[in-house]
Amino acid sequence: MSKLNAVLAHIETDMGASLNRLMELLRIESISTDPEYAGQCRIAADWLVEELDKLGFRASRRDTTGHPMVVAHYDVGDGAPEGSPHVLFYGHYDVQPVDPLDLWKKPPFEPEIYEDAQGRKVIHGRGSSDDKGQLMTFVEACRAWKQQTGHLPCRVTILFEGEEESGSPSLVPFLEAHKDELSTDFALICDTTMWDEQTPAISTSLRGMTEEEVIIKAASRDLHSGFYGGPAANPIRVLGKIIGDMHDDEGKVTLEGFYEGVAEVPDELKAQWDDLGFDQVKFLGGVGLAYPAGEVGYSVLEQKWSRPTAEVNGIIGGYTGEGFKTVIPAQASAKISFRLVGKQDPEKVRSAFRAHVNARLPKDCEAEFINHGGSPAIEFNIDKPELKKATAALKDEWQKDTALIAMGGSIPIGGLFQSILDIDSLLIGFAHADDQIHSPNEKYNLESFTKGTRSWARILAALAE
Ligand code: BES
Ligand code: ZN
Repeated sequence: MSKLNAVLAHIETDMGASLNRLMELLRIESISTDPEYAGQCRIAADWLVEELDKLGFRASRRDTTGHPMVVAHYDVGDGAPEGSPHVLFYGHYDVQPVDPLDLWKKPPFEPEIYEDAQGRKVIHGRGSSDDKGQLMTFVEACRAWKQQTGHLPCRVTILFEGEEESGSPSLVPFLEAHKDELSTDFALICDTTMWDEQTPAISTSLRGMTEEEVIIKAASRDLHSGFYGGPAANPIRVLGKIIGDMHDDEGKVTLEGFYEGVAEVPDELKAQWDDLGFDQVKFLGGVGLAYPAGEVGYSVLEQKWSRPTAEVNGIIGGYTGEGFKTVIPAQASAKISFRLVGKQDPEKVRSAFRAHVNARLPKDCEAEFINHGGSPAIEFNIDKPELKKATAALKDEWQKDTALIAMGGSIPIGGLFQSILDIDSLLIGFAHADDQIHSPNEKYNLESFTKGTRSWARILAALAE
Protein backbone atom coordinates (compact mmCIF):
# COMPACT_ATOMS: atom_id res chain seq x y z
CA MET A 1 0.00 0.00 0.00
CA SER A 2 1.33 3.46 -0.86
CA LYS A 3 2.00 5.88 1.97
CA LEU A 4 -0.95 8.02 0.90
CA ASN A 5 -3.33 5.08 0.84
CA ALA A 6 -2.22 4.10 4.30
CA VAL A 7 -2.86 7.67 5.48
CA LEU A 8 -6.32 7.65 3.91
CA ALA A 9 -7.09 4.34 5.60
CA HIS A 10 -5.90 5.82 8.88
CA ILE A 11 -8.32 8.72 8.46
CA GLU A 12 -11.20 6.26 8.11
CA THR A 13 -10.18 4.25 11.19
CA ASP A 14 -9.68 7.34 13.31
CA MET A 15 -12.83 9.19 12.13
CA GLY A 16 -14.77 8.62 15.39
CA ALA A 17 -11.99 10.21 17.40
CA SER A 18 -11.58 13.02 14.87
CA LEU A 19 -15.24 13.89 15.21
CA ASN A 20 -15.00 13.86 18.99
CA ARG A 21 -12.18 16.35 18.81
CA LEU A 22 -14.21 18.57 16.50
CA MET A 23 -17.15 18.40 18.93
CA GLU A 24 -14.89 19.57 21.75
CA LEU A 25 -13.86 22.60 19.75
CA LEU A 26 -17.47 23.31 18.75
CA ARG A 27 -18.52 23.41 22.40
CA ILE A 28 -16.31 26.45 23.01
CA GLU A 29 -18.33 29.65 22.61
CA SER A 30 -15.68 31.67 20.76
CA ILE A 31 -17.81 34.56 19.51
CA SER A 32 -15.29 37.23 18.59
CA THR A 33 -17.46 40.28 18.10
CA ASP A 34 -18.91 40.28 21.63
CA PRO A 35 -16.34 41.22 24.33
CA GLU A 36 -18.22 39.06 26.83
CA TYR A 37 -16.86 35.98 25.06
CA ALA A 38 -13.20 37.01 25.06
CA GLY A 39 -12.39 34.33 27.63
CA GLN A 40 -13.95 31.68 25.39
CA CYS A 41 -11.86 32.85 22.44
CA ARG A 42 -8.78 32.37 24.57
CA ILE A 43 -9.93 28.90 25.58
CA ALA A 44 -10.41 27.95 21.92
CA ALA A 45 -6.91 29.22 21.10
CA ASP A 46 -5.41 27.23 23.99
CA TRP A 47 -7.31 24.13 22.91
CA LEU A 48 -5.84 24.38 19.42
CA VAL A 49 -2.33 24.97 20.76
CA GLU A 50 -2.59 21.82 22.85
CA GLU A 51 -3.88 19.74 19.92
CA LEU A 52 -1.14 20.96 17.60
CA ASP A 53 1.49 20.38 20.28
CA LYS A 54 0.36 16.79 20.62
CA LEU A 55 0.76 16.45 16.85
CA GLY A 56 4.41 17.40 16.93
CA PHE A 57 4.00 21.04 15.94
CA ARG A 58 5.74 23.77 17.90
CA ALA A 59 2.57 25.66 18.72
CA SER A 60 1.88 28.74 20.76
CA ARG A 61 -0.84 31.21 21.56
CA ARG A 62 0.09 34.73 20.53
CA ASP A 63 -1.81 37.38 22.40
CA THR A 64 -2.80 40.51 20.53
CA THR A 65 -4.69 43.61 21.59
CA GLY A 66 -7.80 41.67 20.46
CA HIS A 67 -8.21 37.89 20.45
CA PRO A 68 -5.14 35.66 20.28
CA MET A 69 -3.63 34.08 17.19
CA VAL A 70 -2.36 30.52 17.17
CA VAL A 71 0.90 29.88 15.34
CA ALA A 72 2.42 26.44 14.87
CA HIS A 73 5.47 25.20 12.99
CA TYR A 74 6.45 21.86 11.61
CA ASP A 75 9.79 22.15 9.86
CA VAL A 76 12.76 20.05 8.84
CA GLY A 77 13.98 19.81 12.43
CA ASP A 78 10.58 18.42 13.41
CA GLY A 79 10.61 15.69 10.76
CA ALA A 80 9.57 17.39 7.51
CA PRO A 81 11.57 16.21 4.50
CA GLU A 82 14.56 18.38 3.65
CA GLY A 83 13.86 20.61 0.63
CA SER A 84 10.10 20.04 0.76
CA PRO A 85 7.80 23.00 0.07
CA HIS A 86 6.70 25.16 2.97
CA VAL A 87 2.97 25.84 3.19
CA LEU A 88 1.13 28.26 5.45
CA PHE A 89 -2.32 27.02 6.43
CA TYR A 90 -4.94 29.54 7.59
CA GLY A 91 -8.28 29.05 9.36
CA HIS A 92 -10.24 30.95 12.00
CA TYR A 93 -11.50 29.62 15.31
CA ASP A 94 -13.85 32.50 16.06
CA VAL A 95 -17.54 32.32 15.21
CA GLN A 96 -20.47 34.61 14.60
CA PRO A 97 -23.01 35.54 17.32
CA VAL A 98 -25.91 33.09 17.65
CA ASP A 99 -28.87 35.42 17.70
CA PRO A 100 -31.76 34.98 17.06
CA LEU A 101 -31.34 32.14 19.55
CA ASP A 102 -35.00 31.08 19.51
CA LEU A 103 -34.70 29.98 15.87
CA TRP A 104 -32.14 27.27 16.68
CA LYS A 105 -33.65 23.78 16.76
CA LYS A 106 -30.86 22.61 19.06
CA PRO A 107 -28.57 24.77 21.20
CA PRO A 108 -25.80 26.32 19.06
CA PHE A 109 -22.92 25.15 21.25
CA GLU A 110 -24.16 21.61 21.82
CA PRO A 111 -22.90 19.94 18.65
CA GLU A 112 -24.25 16.62 17.48
CA ILE A 113 -24.51 14.60 14.32
CA TYR A 114 -28.00 14.01 12.98
CA GLU A 115 -29.67 12.94 9.78
CA ASP A 116 -31.41 15.82 8.03
CA ALA A 117 -34.58 15.81 5.92
CA GLN A 118 -32.59 14.93 2.80
CA GLY A 119 -31.06 11.90 4.52
CA ARG A 120 -27.64 13.50 4.87
CA LYS A 121 -25.59 13.12 8.04
CA VAL A 122 -24.72 16.62 9.22
CA ILE A 123 -22.77 18.12 12.11
CA HIS A 124 -24.86 20.67 13.97
CA GLY A 125 -23.46 23.73 15.69
CA ARG A 126 -22.26 27.30 15.42
CA GLY A 127 -18.88 27.22 13.70
CA SER A 128 -19.35 23.67 12.39
CA SER A 129 -18.94 25.01 8.85
CA ASP A 130 -17.49 28.48 9.44
CA ASP A 131 -14.78 27.72 10.25
CA LYS A 132 -14.00 25.16 12.95
CA GLY A 133 -15.13 22.11 10.96
CA GLN A 134 -13.10 23.34 8.01
CA LEU A 135 -9.90 24.08 9.91
CA MET A 136 -10.14 20.72 11.65
CA THR A 137 -10.14 18.92 8.27
CA PHE A 138 -6.56 20.14 7.86
CA VAL A 139 -5.54 19.38 11.44
CA GLU A 140 -6.91 15.85 11.16
CA ALA A 141 -5.17 15.30 7.82
CA CYS A 142 -1.89 16.33 9.45
CA ARG A 143 -2.62 14.01 12.35
CA ALA A 144 -3.17 11.06 10.02
CA TRP A 145 0.07 11.75 8.17
CA LYS A 146 1.99 12.06 11.42
CA GLN A 147 0.52 9.00 13.11
CA GLN A 148 0.68 6.79 10.05
CA THR A 149 4.09 7.71 8.65
CA GLY A 150 5.82 9.40 11.58
CA HIS A 151 6.02 12.79 9.87
CA LEU A 152 4.23 15.31 7.64
CA PRO A 153 5.07 15.14 3.93
CA CYS A 154 6.16 18.78 3.76
CA ARG A 155 6.96 21.80 5.91
CA VAL A 156 3.83 23.31 7.43
CA THR A 157 3.16 26.51 9.34
CA ILE A 158 -0.32 27.05 10.70
CA LEU A 159 -1.98 30.38 11.50
CA PHE A 160 -5.34 30.32 13.23
CA GLU A 161 -7.06 33.65 13.74
CA GLY A 162 -9.64 34.58 16.36
CA GLU A 163 -11.00 37.81 14.86
CA GLU A 164 -11.97 36.91 11.31
CA GLU A 165 -15.67 37.41 12.00
CA SER A 166 -15.09 40.82 13.50
CA GLY A 167 -13.00 42.57 10.91
CA SER A 168 -9.55 41.18 11.82
CA PRO A 169 -8.30 44.31 13.63
CA SER A 170 -5.07 42.67 14.85
CA LEU A 171 -4.16 41.02 11.59
CA VAL A 172 -2.13 43.72 9.84
CA PRO A 173 0.10 44.53 12.84
CA PHE A 174 0.51 40.82 13.56
CA LEU A 175 1.52 39.91 10.02
CA GLU A 176 3.87 42.85 9.85
CA ALA A 177 5.54 41.94 13.13
CA HIS A 178 5.87 38.25 12.18
CA LYS A 179 6.72 38.56 8.52
CA ASP A 180 9.84 36.43 8.74
CA GLU A 181 8.24 33.78 10.87
CA LEU A 182 5.28 33.41 8.51
CA SER A 183 7.08 33.72 5.25
CA THR A 184 6.52 30.49 3.36
CA ASP A 185 6.15 29.37 -0.26
CA PHE A 186 2.40 29.85 -0.44
CA ALA A 187 -0.75 29.77 1.67
CA LEU A 188 -3.69 27.40 1.91
CA ILE A 189 -6.92 28.94 3.17
CA CYS A 190 -9.81 26.72 4.18
CA ASP A 191 -12.85 28.97 4.63
CA THR A 192 -14.83 28.66 1.40
CA THR A 193 -17.40 26.40 -0.26
CA MET A 194 -17.42 23.67 -2.87
CA TRP A 195 -19.30 24.33 -6.10
CA ASP A 196 -21.97 21.78 -5.21
CA GLU A 197 -22.09 18.61 -3.11
CA GLN A 198 -20.28 16.58 -5.75
CA THR A 199 -17.90 19.15 -7.17
CA PRO A 200 -14.79 20.38 -5.38
CA ALA A 201 -13.79 23.97 -6.00
CA ILE A 202 -10.92 26.38 -5.74
CA SER A 203 -11.96 30.00 -5.27
CA THR A 204 -9.99 32.39 -7.41
CA SER A 205 -11.33 35.67 -6.04
CA LEU A 206 -12.93 37.16 -2.96
CA ARG A 207 -14.85 40.35 -2.51
CA GLY A 208 -13.41 42.94 -0.17
CA MET A 209 -15.31 44.93 2.40
CA THR A 210 -15.76 48.27 4.11
CA GLU A 211 -17.59 48.08 7.43
CA GLU A 212 -19.00 51.23 8.91
CA GLU A 213 -21.48 52.22 11.59
CA VAL A 214 -23.29 55.54 11.51
CA ILE A 215 -25.11 57.18 14.41
CA ILE A 216 -27.47 60.08 13.71
CA LYS A 217 -28.12 62.31 16.71
CA ALA A 218 -30.66 65.11 17.13
CA ALA A 219 -32.43 66.14 20.37
CA SER A 220 -30.67 65.89 23.72
CA ARG A 221 -33.13 63.18 24.89
CA ASP A 222 -35.98 60.99 23.63
CA LEU A 223 -39.07 63.15 23.10
CA HIS A 224 -42.85 62.81 23.30
CA SER A 225 -43.92 62.66 19.64
CA GLY A 226 -47.06 64.69 20.37
CA PHE A 227 -45.41 67.40 22.38
CA TYR A 228 -42.39 67.76 20.03
CA GLY A 229 -43.61 66.00 16.87
CA GLY A 230 -43.44 68.35 13.87
CA PRO A 231 -40.81 70.79 15.04
CA ALA A 232 -38.30 68.18 16.27
CA ALA A 233 -35.90 66.44 13.87
CA ASN A 234 -36.36 62.66 13.87
CA PRO A 235 -33.05 60.77 13.48
CA ILE A 236 -34.80 57.65 12.17
CA ARG A 237 -36.29 59.64 9.31
CA VAL A 238 -32.92 61.16 8.55
CA LEU A 239 -31.31 57.72 8.60
CA GLY A 240 -34.07 56.35 6.39
CA LYS A 241 -33.38 59.00 3.79
CA ILE A 242 -29.62 58.40 3.93
CA ILE A 243 -30.11 54.67 3.41
CA GLY A 244 -32.82 55.07 0.79
CA ASP A 245 -30.58 57.36 -1.24
CA MET A 246 -27.72 54.85 -1.37
CA HIS A 247 -29.20 53.03 -4.41
CA ASP A 248 -30.88 54.15 -7.60
CA ASP A 249 -33.86 52.36 -9.18
CA GLU A 250 -31.57 50.05 -11.13
CA GLY A 251 -29.80 48.80 -8.03
CA LYS A 252 -26.67 50.89 -8.59
CA VAL A 253 -24.93 52.38 -5.59
CA THR A 254 -25.07 56.18 -5.77
CA LEU A 255 -22.06 57.08 -3.60
CA GLU A 256 -19.72 59.46 -5.39
CA GLY A 257 -16.86 57.53 -7.03
CA PHE A 258 -18.11 54.20 -5.75
CA TYR A 259 -17.46 52.32 -9.02
CA GLU A 260 -13.86 53.56 -9.37
CA GLY A 261 -11.73 50.46 -9.84
CA VAL A 262 -14.65 48.19 -10.79
CA ALA A 263 -14.08 46.41 -14.10
CA GLU A 264 -16.40 44.26 -16.20
CA VAL A 265 -15.71 40.52 -16.06
CA PRO A 266 -13.56 39.50 -19.07
CA ASP A 267 -15.51 37.47 -21.66
CA GLU A 268 -13.33 34.44 -21.11
CA LEU A 269 -14.10 34.33 -17.40
CA LYS A 270 -17.77 35.01 -18.06
CA ALA A 271 -17.83 32.00 -20.38
CA GLN A 272 -16.13 29.89 -17.70
CA TRP A 273 -18.80 30.93 -15.19
CA ASP A 274 -21.56 30.22 -17.70
CA ASP A 275 -20.18 26.70 -18.08
CA LEU A 276 -20.71 26.06 -14.38
CA GLY A 277 -24.43 25.74 -15.07
CA PHE A 278 -25.53 27.90 -12.13
CA ASP A 279 -29.21 27.48 -11.31
CA GLN A 280 -30.45 30.85 -10.10
CA VAL A 281 -33.99 29.62 -9.51
CA LYS A 282 -32.67 26.99 -7.12
CA PHE A 283 -30.24 29.43 -5.52
CA LEU A 284 -32.90 32.03 -4.75
CA GLY A 285 -35.66 29.48 -4.22
CA GLY A 286 -33.59 27.83 -1.48
CA VAL A 287 -34.15 30.90 0.69
CA GLY A 288 -37.69 31.71 -0.38
CA LEU A 289 -36.86 34.27 -3.05
CA ALA A 290 -37.56 34.38 -6.77
CA TYR A 291 -36.41 37.75 -8.14
CA PRO A 292 -32.77 38.90 -8.23
CA ALA A 293 -32.63 42.29 -6.50
CA GLY A 294 -29.12 43.35 -7.51
CA GLU A 295 -27.89 45.62 -10.27
CA VAL A 296 -30.03 45.43 -13.37
CA GLY A 297 -28.17 43.97 -16.35
CA TYR A 298 -26.00 41.52 -14.43
CA SER A 299 -26.52 37.80 -13.91
CA VAL A 300 -27.03 36.51 -10.39
CA LEU A 301 -23.52 35.02 -10.37
CA GLU A 302 -22.08 38.36 -11.46
CA GLN A 303 -24.16 40.14 -8.82
CA LYS A 304 -22.62 38.03 -6.10
CA TRP A 305 -19.10 37.43 -7.46
CA SER A 306 -18.05 40.44 -9.47
CA ARG A 307 -20.24 43.40 -8.54
CA PRO A 308 -19.89 45.59 -5.45
CA THR A 309 -22.78 46.12 -3.06
CA ALA A 310 -23.96 48.36 -0.24
CA GLU A 311 -25.96 46.54 2.42
CA VAL A 312 -27.57 47.58 5.67
CA ASN A 313 -26.83 44.80 8.16
CA GLY A 314 -28.57 46.28 11.15
CA ILE A 315 -30.59 49.30 12.14
CA ILE A 316 -31.35 50.55 15.61
CA GLY A 317 -33.56 53.33 16.86
CA GLY A 318 -36.63 54.31 18.82
CA TYR A 319 -39.00 52.05 20.66
CA THR A 320 -38.94 48.43 19.50
CA GLY A 321 -40.37 46.68 22.58
CA GLU A 322 -43.84 45.24 23.13
CA GLY A 323 -46.84 47.48 22.49
CA PHE A 324 -46.45 51.02 21.34
CA LYS A 325 -44.62 54.09 22.55
CA THR A 326 -45.00 57.48 20.91
CA VAL A 327 -41.45 58.65 20.94
CA ILE A 328 -39.05 60.64 18.80
CA PRO A 329 -35.71 59.09 19.63
CA ALA A 330 -32.64 61.16 20.32
CA GLN A 331 -30.62 58.97 18.01
CA ALA A 332 -30.73 56.21 15.42
CA SER A 333 -27.94 54.13 13.96
CA ALA A 334 -27.16 51.62 11.26
CA LYS A 335 -24.41 49.09 10.55
CA ILE A 336 -23.53 49.17 6.91
CA SER A 337 -21.16 47.03 4.86
CA PHE A 338 -19.93 47.47 1.32
CA ARG A 339 -18.71 44.42 -0.61
CA LEU A 340 -15.90 45.50 -2.87
CA VAL A 341 -14.48 44.13 -6.10
CA GLY A 342 -11.55 44.79 -8.40
CA LYS A 343 -9.44 47.73 -7.29
CA GLN A 344 -12.01 49.56 -5.18
CA ASP A 345 -10.29 51.22 -2.23
CA PRO A 346 -11.99 50.39 1.11
CA GLU A 347 -11.02 53.73 2.64
CA LYS A 348 -12.21 55.77 -0.36
CA VAL A 349 -15.55 54.00 -0.10
CA ARG A 350 -15.68 54.87 3.59
CA SER A 351 -15.03 58.54 2.83
CA ALA A 352 -17.64 58.54 0.06
CA PHE A 353 -20.19 57.09 2.46
CA ARG A 354 -19.38 59.69 5.12
CA ALA A 355 -19.74 62.43 2.54
CA HIS A 356 -23.08 60.94 1.43
CA VAL A 357 -24.30 61.07 5.05
CA ASN A 358 -22.97 64.54 5.80
CA ALA A 359 -24.59 65.93 2.65
CA ARG A 360 -27.99 64.73 3.90
CA LEU A 361 -27.81 65.96 7.49
CA PRO A 362 -30.52 68.51 8.27
CA LYS A 363 -29.84 71.34 10.69
CA ASP A 364 -29.72 70.24 14.35
CA CYS A 365 -28.58 66.73 13.36
CA GLU A 366 -25.10 65.36 13.63
CA ALA A 367 -23.51 62.13 12.52
CA GLU A 368 -20.95 60.01 14.31
CA PHE A 369 -19.08 57.27 12.49
CA ILE A 370 -17.45 54.12 13.76
CA ASN A 371 -14.90 52.43 11.54
CA HIS A 372 -15.32 48.65 11.81
CA GLY A 373 -12.51 47.80 9.41
CA GLY A 374 -12.08 47.00 5.78
CA SER A 375 -10.15 44.92 3.31
CA PRO A 376 -9.69 45.11 -0.47
CA ALA A 377 -10.99 42.51 -2.91
CA ILE A 378 -8.50 39.98 -4.09
CA GLU A 379 -7.87 37.95 -7.20
CA PHE A 380 -5.56 34.96 -7.06
CA ASN A 381 -3.07 33.83 -9.62
CA ILE A 382 -4.42 30.71 -11.33
CA ASP A 383 -1.28 29.86 -13.31
CA LYS A 384 0.52 28.24 -10.44
CA PRO A 385 1.89 24.70 -10.31
CA GLU A 386 0.41 24.34 -6.81
CA LEU A 387 -3.07 24.99 -8.18
CA LYS A 388 -2.64 22.24 -10.75
CA LYS A 389 -1.39 19.80 -8.11
CA ALA A 390 -4.26 20.63 -5.74
CA THR A 391 -6.77 20.34 -8.57
CA ALA A 392 -5.54 16.86 -9.43
CA ALA A 393 -5.56 15.78 -5.77
CA LEU A 394 -9.14 17.02 -5.37
CA LYS A 395 -10.17 15.14 -8.48
CA ASP A 396 -8.68 11.93 -7.07
CA GLU A 397 -10.83 12.31 -3.98
CA TRP A 398 -14.11 13.54 -5.48
CA GLN A 399 -13.84 11.87 -8.90
CA LYS A 400 -14.90 15.12 -10.51
CA ASP A 401 -13.05 18.01 -12.09
CA THR A 402 -12.39 20.90 -9.74
CA ALA A 403 -14.44 24.01 -10.51
CA LEU A 404 -12.69 27.37 -10.51
CA ILE A 405 -15.16 29.68 -8.86
CA ALA A 406 -15.31 33.08 -7.16
CA MET A 407 -16.56 33.91 -3.66
CA GLY A 408 -18.89 36.74 -2.80
CA GLY A 409 -17.80 36.63 0.84
CA SER A 410 -14.68 38.23 2.29
CA ILE A 411 -11.68 36.77 4.08
CA PRO A 412 -9.39 39.68 4.97
CA ILE A 413 -6.28 37.51 5.20
CA GLY A 414 -6.29 36.68 1.47
CA GLY A 415 -5.20 40.13 0.37
CA LEU A 416 -2.83 40.55 3.31
CA PHE A 417 -0.87 37.38 2.56
CA GLN A 418 -0.26 38.92 -0.84
CA SER A 419 0.46 42.50 0.22
CA ILE A 420 2.39 41.86 3.45
CA LEU A 421 3.95 38.40 3.09
CA ASP A 422 4.15 38.51 -0.71
CA ILE A 423 2.76 34.99 -1.09
CA ASP A 424 -0.10 33.61 -3.13
CA SER A 425 -2.97 31.66 -1.63
CA LEU A 426 -5.05 28.68 -2.65
CA LEU A 427 -8.61 28.87 -1.34
CA ILE A 428 -9.99 25.40 -0.88
CA GLY A 429 -12.99 24.65 1.29
CA PHE A 430 -15.66 22.00 1.68
CA ALA A 431 -18.59 24.05 2.97
CA HIS A 432 -21.92 24.31 1.13
CA ALA A 433 -24.35 27.09 0.30
CA ASP A 434 -26.96 25.54 2.61
CA ASP A 435 -24.67 25.32 5.66
CA GLN A 436 -26.47 28.35 7.13
CA ILE A 437 -23.24 30.06 8.12
CA HIS A 438 -23.91 33.21 10.19
CA SER A 439 -27.55 32.00 10.58
CA PRO A 440 -29.37 29.80 13.07
CA ASN A 441 -28.91 26.01 12.69
CA GLU A 442 -25.48 26.13 11.11
CA LYS A 443 -24.33 22.69 9.99
CA TYR A 444 -21.45 21.02 8.18
CA ASN A 445 -22.07 17.91 6.13
CA LEU A 446 -20.37 14.89 7.61
CA GLU A 447 -19.10 14.20 4.11
CA SER A 448 -17.51 17.66 3.97
CA PHE A 449 -15.57 16.72 7.07
CA THR A 450 -14.54 13.19 6.08
CA LYS A 451 -13.77 13.83 2.43
CA GLY A 452 -12.36 17.26 3.28
CA THR A 453 -9.87 15.60 5.62
CA ARG A 454 -9.01 13.05 2.95
CA SER A 455 -8.65 15.85 0.39
CA TRP A 456 -6.06 17.66 2.51
CA ALA A 457 -4.15 14.41 3.03
CA ARG A 458 -3.98 14.07 -0.75
CA ILE A 459 -3.17 17.73 -1.36
CA LEU A 460 -0.27 17.62 1.11
CA ALA A 461 1.09 14.56 -0.68
CA ALA A 462 0.67 16.18 -4.09
CA LEU A 463 2.34 19.43 -3.01
CA ALA A 464 5.26 17.52 -1.51
CA GLU A 465 6.01 15.70 -4.77
N1 BES B 1 -16.20 31.96 5.68
C1 BES B 1 -16.68 33.28 5.48
C2 BES B 1 -16.47 33.80 4.08
C3 BES B 1 -17.35 33.11 3.09
C4 BES B 1 -18.67 33.50 2.99
C5 BES B 1 -16.88 32.12 2.31
C6 BES B 1 -19.51 32.86 2.09
C7 BES B 1 -17.72 31.47 1.45
C8 BES B 1 -19.03 31.83 1.32
C9 BES B 1 -15.98 34.21 6.43
O1 BES B 1 -15.78 33.65 7.70
C10 BES B 1 -16.85 35.39 6.65
O2 BES B 1 -18.00 35.29 6.93
N2 BES B 1 -16.28 36.55 6.50
C11 BES B 1 -16.94 37.76 6.79
C12 BES B 1 -15.85 38.76 6.91
C13 BES B 1 -16.19 40.01 7.59
C14 BES B 1 -16.83 39.86 8.92
C15 BES B 1 -14.95 40.89 7.64
C16 BES B 1 -17.92 38.11 5.68
O3 BES B 1 -17.68 37.77 4.51
O4 BES B 1 -18.94 38.70 5.99
ZN1 ZN C 1 -15.21 31.88 7.79
